[in-house]
Amino acid sequence: MLDQGAAPPTTEPSNGRGRGTAARLMRRKPVERLVAEGGQGEGGALRRSLSMWQLTMISIGATLGTGIFVVLGEAVPEAGPAVTVSFVIAGLTALFSALSYAELAGTIPVSGSSYSYAYATMGELVAWVCGWCLILEYGVSVAAVAVGWGEYLNELLAGTIGVTIPDALSAPPGDGGFFNLPALLVVLLAMVFLLGGARESARANTVMVVVKIAALVLFCAVGVQGFRSGNYENFMPLGMAGVSAAGASLFFSYIGFDAASTAGEEAKNPQRDLPRAIMLSLLIVTALYVLVAAVAVGARPWEGFGESEAALAGIMEDVTGQSFWAVLLAAGAVIAIASVVLTVLYGQTRILFAMSRDGLVPKVFSRVHARSGAPRANTVLVSLFCGVLAAAVPLGRLADATSIGTLFAFALVNVAVVVLRRTRPDMKRTFRVPLSPLFPVIGFGFCVWMMFSLDTITWIVFGVWMAVGLAVYFGYGMRRSALR
Ligand code: ALA
Repeated sequence: MLDQGAAPPTTEPSNGRGRGTAARLMRRKPVERLVAEGGQGEGGALRRSLSMWQLTMISIGATLGTGIFVVLGEAVPEAGPAVTVSFVIAGLTALFSALSYAELAGTIPVSGSSYSYAYATMGELVAWVCGWCLILEYGVSVAAVAVGWGEYLNELLAGTIGVTIPDALSAPPGDGGFFNLPALLVVLLAMVFLLGGARESARANTVMVVVKIAALVLFCAVGVQGFRSGNYENFMPLGMAGVSAAGASLFFSYIGFDAASTAGEEAKNPQRDLPRAIMLSLLIVTALYVLVAAVAVGARPWEGFGESEAALAGIMEDVTGQSFWAVLLAAGAVIAIASVVLTVLYGQTRILFAMSRDGLVPKVFSRVHARSGAPRANTVLVSLFCGVLAAAVPLGRLADATSIGTLFAFALVNVAVVVLRRTRPDMKRTFRVPLSPLFPVIGFGFCVWMMFSLDTITWIVFGVWMAVGLAVYFGYGMRRSALR
């Protein structure tokens, strides 16, 4: 652990002197203070109960879901059998940022993830912007993923009892419905687990992660029996452009590997375990993605993808000739996507917890319930926000907003590594990004490149989101900051 013997400084010395607005925007929170405050909330403290294994499961839980079960099927028509290469490209983008996350999570092991790293390195305004982007990565993606869950639930209901939830109750207004009830329900279900505390939620998540990994391994075991090498003959039908376009869509499937970094204040040994959990989860997820993609395009000619959202379930049925396997896979997907909702919702509550302790959002978000050791009021508020969003907004819009916010936060994390190496070279780092600053610069470049490959509407949504965020900061956070 960091040496916490001395009283932590209240602000970073180089930033605390100026009195003007610029100095207020640039004030940094010293790493020692961030760490010393770790776990402390209003009226209680979070409990340190999570092991390395559980942290890894949280990251896998937040990552493995809609991307592999739904987006893969949409990406194959763009890349052909070379979708395996697209997964590697998207994985490389994630890898460079993951290295930076691992270094910072081991050095500043708190719950705010990149928001806290930005606060320690680039000052309050950038930290706020980062935290506001994390609401897109976590809060809005919970809603996006919950919408995907509703689609698989319908698939499962159709396959088992032959009934589906009517459109009016399973789609939002812009998508031919009135209200997405399943999406709201899965968020409320995750809320119930989270109210029980981090350890209970982590246990439930571990079970769900084991089930979803088993579902994908089962897919590989069954799918490989239908493998035909001829399906690989036209490996890159739409050239490299198709492969990289598919890679950009598949980036969504890697979002979430950083979720362990929101558990820094509930981890038993955060400095040792967080970097390991982040890297291990990314390794496991990438291996599974490449394997599943390789089997999928080996078992079904690439031209046959894109017709149905549940491509993996369809392949199981084609290979075995029995609908039972498709139903089993749909059940696996329902559990898989529920665990993404649970862990990402968890991450959002902990990021707001850290921001609230810093005074940038209301104190209610850092109130801790004495018996469960969980921020209950925070959990209820965040769940209601995400649930209503999931019920009322179509999936596509939510997913793009998630990607741009995530990429912006990842870009800042890469910058933060370089800044902290310069400003605090003395700090103990349990993990170091190799070849810094080259790797963080490459990571930053990947993020910016991917952001610019998103469409204009997404940028406009992002601009409006940022404008609202800045208004909230100048109207509320700046005046109430704990560093004021
Ligand atoms: N990576 C997460 C998923 O694929 C967001 O569901």
